[in-house]
Amino acid sequence: MIKSLEWIEGGIRILDQTHLPHEEVYVECRDVSSIAEAIRSMRIRGAPAIGVAAAAAMALGAQTIQEQTFEAFSTKLSALGEDLAKARPTAVNLKWGIERMKQAALKSRDLPLPALKEALVAEAKAILEEDIRINQAIGAKGQVLIQDGSRILTHCNTGSLATAGYGTALGVIRSAKASGKRIEVLANETRPFLQGARLTAWELLKEGIPFSLITDSMAGSFMHRGMVDLVLVGADRIAANGDVANKIGTYTLAVLAKEHGIPFYVAAPLSTLDLTLQSGDEIPIEERSPEEVTHIGGRSIAPPGITAKNPAFDITPARYVTAMITERGIAYPPYKESLRRLVER
Ligand code: MRU
Repeated sequence: MIKSLEWIEGGIRILDQTHLPHEEVYVECRDVSSIAEAIRSMRIRGAPAIGVAAAAAMALGAQTIQEQTFEAFSTKLSALGEDLAKARPTAVNLKWGIERMKQAALKSRDLPLPALKEALVAEAKAILEEDIRINQAIGAKGQVLIQDGSRILTHCNTGSLATAGYGTALGVIRSAKASGKRIEVLANETRPFLQGARLTAWELLKEGIPFSLITDSMAGSFMHRGMVDLVLVGADRIAANGDVANKIGTYTLAVLAKEHGIPFYVAAPLSTLDLTLQSGDEIPIEERSPEEVTHIGGRSIAPPGITAKNPAFDITPARYVTAMITERGIAYPPYKESLRRLVER
């Protein structure tokens, strides 16, 4: 299995996704700031992978705290978390990873500080392993929605690279294939950052899953021609009412799917749920550099000096989502109740 990140002596090793698909370059991060930089610059990306990396950052940051009382230690750890949380705004998993580490520190507050610091490294390692198991569970639960012979349209990258391993939406696809179903994938290139062309195509190729790469603007035409049986995507944040923030272009697919009577599924771990937000209107949307729109592979494709807009995510209202696949089962509308039931189980 492809490893987007793994623990090494004194830090983590990240597969630098900015070099894919042409080169497999790894970077070693041994402190909070290098992990924050890796998240900001998309060396590591995808909501669950960001959460796992954030937990590692907190564990590494904890090692540098010199304070001698738990209260002072905890204040410093929270400050590290506050800084780290600024790396990217939309995927709630970043905050989730930070909070989970703060909770772990609280649970071990009676330990001597050296032991507490060790406990935090153990917790961050456990979060990584847990993420793989969660994705495998999402795959197992979700693959029942896929019929033999299905043609699946997906967007962005939701595979091993976007998680600690296995993937969310891509995990469901992987799982359907493993259970003997013949499937075919249409992968959107996902402009402007091209996660579909650079990352999903790379993963599908490695996995031997039959697929074709299409540009985002082709999706509607493929649906109209009866060549898509279902749409399957991941999520970066899901509000309490079931509104979904995901890679820009997801909303367009959801509306198109409804128009064509095609099921639209979202696969995500429960760590992507943000029950503090009532609706998608409250989800912060990251605005990235206009250069990602005006340039491809570092080369300009537009007249110099023009303005360009680059919101990295959009909101798909819950009414367009046929079902949500989580590690605890499949949620159907109304999501306000079904998601809460899954969380409380
Ligand atoms: O900007 P990115 O590449 O971090 O965006 C990733 C996505 O939008 C994925 O679809 C999302 O994180 C779900 S994946 C597991």
